[in-house]
Amino acid sequence: MTARGTWLGGLAALLGGALTAIGAPADAPAYAQGAMSFQANCAVCHGANGAGLPSLAPPLLANPARYAASAEGRRQLAMTVLYGLFGDITVDDRHYDFRMPDFSRLDDATLAATLNFVVFDLAHAAGDVKPLAAADLAAERAHPVDGAAVREHRKGVAPAGP
Ligand code: HEC
Repeated sequence: MTARGTWLGGLAALLGGALTAIGAPADAPAYAQGAMSFQANCAVCHGANGAGLPSLAPPLLANPARYAASAEGRRQLAMTVLYGLFGDITVDDRHYDFRMPDFSRLDDATLAATLNFVVFDLAHAAGDVKPLAAADLAAERAHPVDGAAVREHRKGVAPAGP
């Protein structure tokens, strides 16, 4: 995606958030606060609509929904935003080998909302999947690890790569 496309996408999402705030219907995100946080903190690398940027950051359109359906996967989501992710990974047959920064400076409720936007609005998790709660983030915050350990834990929850 071009930088311009990313920018326009971000603008559209921000407008969506503003429309939600004034009570307009349309396809507003289910997690409006999470959408705002995603545009502010994540879109620069993952793209405004979560499609990822080739060789920089993976798409967030499938794995997050898978992760949210299991206890260890939910831990994986919380650990990724709290501690970042370091080392090579494969997503949809593509390789990524870069470092995602940690977002532990954001509070638990904001991180939960951001992840719920990713899981439900971007990755379209099934309706019976439970939203992440601030307590899920607090539980992982109590056990600090580093981005390499987050990658190790990922091996147990991600689909096997080639
Ligand atoms: C500076 C760029 C950057 C920013 C900003 C960023 N990420 Fe990432 N993200 C990455 C990279 C790079 C990876 C893959 C890391 C690797 O290669 O080990 C990744 C991986 C992920 C994964 C794991 C995907 C999988 O298939 O396991 C999730 C989930 C994720 N990011 C969510 C987020 C969220 C939510 C935010 C905002 C709070 C965010 N990212 C902000 C670069 C970024």
